[in-house]
Amino acid sequence: MLSFSRYCILFDIYQERGQAESCTTAFGILEMTLRFNFQGKKVLLTGATGDVGKTLVQAFLDSGAKLVATGRSPEKLRLIEGSGEMLKKIPCNMENFDELNAMSNEAIAWLGGCDIFVHTAANMLVKDPLSLDESDWRRALNVNLLAPYFCIKCAMPALKDSLAGRIILFGSGAGKSGGLGHNLTYGASKGGILAMTFNLARELAKTRVTVNCLVPGPIDGPLMREFGPELYKRALEKHPMGRFATAAELVPPTLFLASEEAAHITGEALDVNGGYFTD
Ligand SMILES: NC(=O)c1ccc[n+]([C@@H]2O[C@H](COP(=O)([O-])OP(=O)(O)OC[C@H]3O[C@@H](n4cnc5c(N)ncnc54)[C@H](OP(=O)(O)O)[C@@H]3O)[C@@H](O)[C@H]2O)c1
Repeated sequence: MLSFSRYCILFDIYQERGQAESCTTAFGILEMTLRFNFQGKKVLLTGATGDVGKTLVQAFLDSGAKLVATGRSPEKLRLIEGSGEMLKKIPCNMENFDELNAMSNEAIAWLGGCDIFVHTAANMLVKDPLSLDESDWRRALNVNLLAPYFCIKCAMPALKDSLAGRIILFGSGAGKSGGLGHNLTYGASKGGILAMTFNLARELAKTRVTVNCLVPGPIDGPLMREFGPELYKRALEKHPMGRFATAAELVPPTLFLASEEAAHITGEALDVNGGYFTD
């Protein structure tokens, strides 16, 4: 297996030789053999019952992490598999801050610290932008923007104690483009996530806690289907790759940003969109 450090050396050698194509081959090898080691790492992950979240739960557990999985639906949480020693499931409706704070405190206490916080939970409402009411805005802002902020606030002492504290937020192309359709509250809150990433990254840089944001384009899953078949079809036709991402394709970039090897990457908004949006 090609370790990460050997891969970096290989990459440098190929680059020095100006052998771009062989470099790509090195990428190929990495793709097949890259393994992350999260043994001893304590992870708090929100949105664990979602399309991307449940894939990430298994990836972190498979890589040796101890993990708290939180999601809104207790029924969906029950379906997540893992040993009781390494996995704790805590249902939480993040619209309610009392529940949110109780969940965060319980999670950090059970983990005995926190090295990695990943926020994938999201509220997306498809509704005419001029018919939104206060509760529509509150729901999106609470789940998408304020919930990760208050989780971070609670986890911060533990993250600072970690040798490699990592905060990974999930944005969206909608936060840059305004959204694919009638999803204003979603796009606006995802724009806010980008600003939060940049601000906290600078503020926390001296603590060794990095703050980064995954910015997915359309993923083939339940969230995209909320737009209805017409818009789904149009978005697919517009996609340069002719297909949306799979949830699994969000896993390697997330694990990379969560890894110790990504120590010098902070304040990054990493597009994973197959060329759907470029900026
Ligand atoms: N899918 C896409 O096309 C796409 C595109 C761009 C960005 N993204 C971003 O990528 C991330 C993952 O997306 P996904 O496709 O995995 O989304 P998803 O399948 O819709 O999952 C959403 C998650 O958020 C949780 N959630 C929603 N409301 C909640 C609340 N009030 N309290 C607590 N949890 C709540 C859901 O919990 P329950 O299931 O238990 O209700 C679920 O775990 C999100 O941040 C999303 O914005 C996705």
